[in-house]
Amino acid sequence: MDYLRRKDMKVLVTYYTESGNTEKLAQAIHDGIERADKEIVPIQDARSLEGYDVIFCGFPVQSSSVPPQVERFLKQIPEGKLLAIFGTHGSLRGGELAVTAFYYAMSLAAKAKVIGTFGCRGKVKSKLIDTLMKNPEHRGWAIEAQSAGGHPGEPDLEDGKEFARWMITKARSLQGDVVPVGTSLTGS
Ligand SMILES: Cc1cc2nc3c(=O)[nH]c(=O)nc-3n(C[C@H](O)[C@H](O)[C@H](O)COP(=O)(O)O)c2cc1C
Repeated sequence: MDYLRRKDMKVLVTYYTESGNTEKLAQAIHDGIERADKEIVPIQDARSLEGYDVIFCGFPVQSSSVPPQVERFLKQIPEGKLLAIFGTHGSLRGGELAVTAFYYAMSLAAKAKVIGTFGCRGKVKSKLIDTLMKNPEHRGWAIEAQSAGGHPGEPDLEDGKEFARWMITKARSLQGDVVPVGTSLTGS
């Protein structure tokens, strides 16, 4: 059966980035959001969140965790707001370092309703890899990080767009905004 949307949603994509990887993914996510009133802004420029139906918030995983700017943002997301979390990381997709960071991000946004998460790899600055290699404690993940060169690439960005589309579909259905074709748009 085909489904129809009843109204436009207001969507914010906001992100923190240091070397541009998460910004690329944020842009792809923004591009993947269809038929919505959408905005994309760096996290330091995000203002009142009240008017948005859905917020996408992205960050680079740092020390298996969430950068402080993003921690602060996630904590102040209003009660019940629909939230999709995304990020880039040097370690493997689905690996422990990234998963730990995503769980932590979800715990910070305790008042929001998290509707999904998405992560992909992002190349790591060679200077950081060199530093990590010198430390036996970090060498394991530094070796892993070396193979993140070239990310996020086109396949990652396509997956990001797909994630955005599914999140919007899910948000519409949670808001009761997806109805079978043929249903009266006036509700009468
Ligand atoms: C200080 C620092 C710490 C990092 N720690 C991790 C980590 O614990 N796990 C990981 O997978 N990647 C880690 N990374 C790699 C970044 O998450 C990755 O390169 C990311 O794509 C950078 O995104 P950006 O360009 O948006 O800043 C770290 C990078 C930096 C600079």
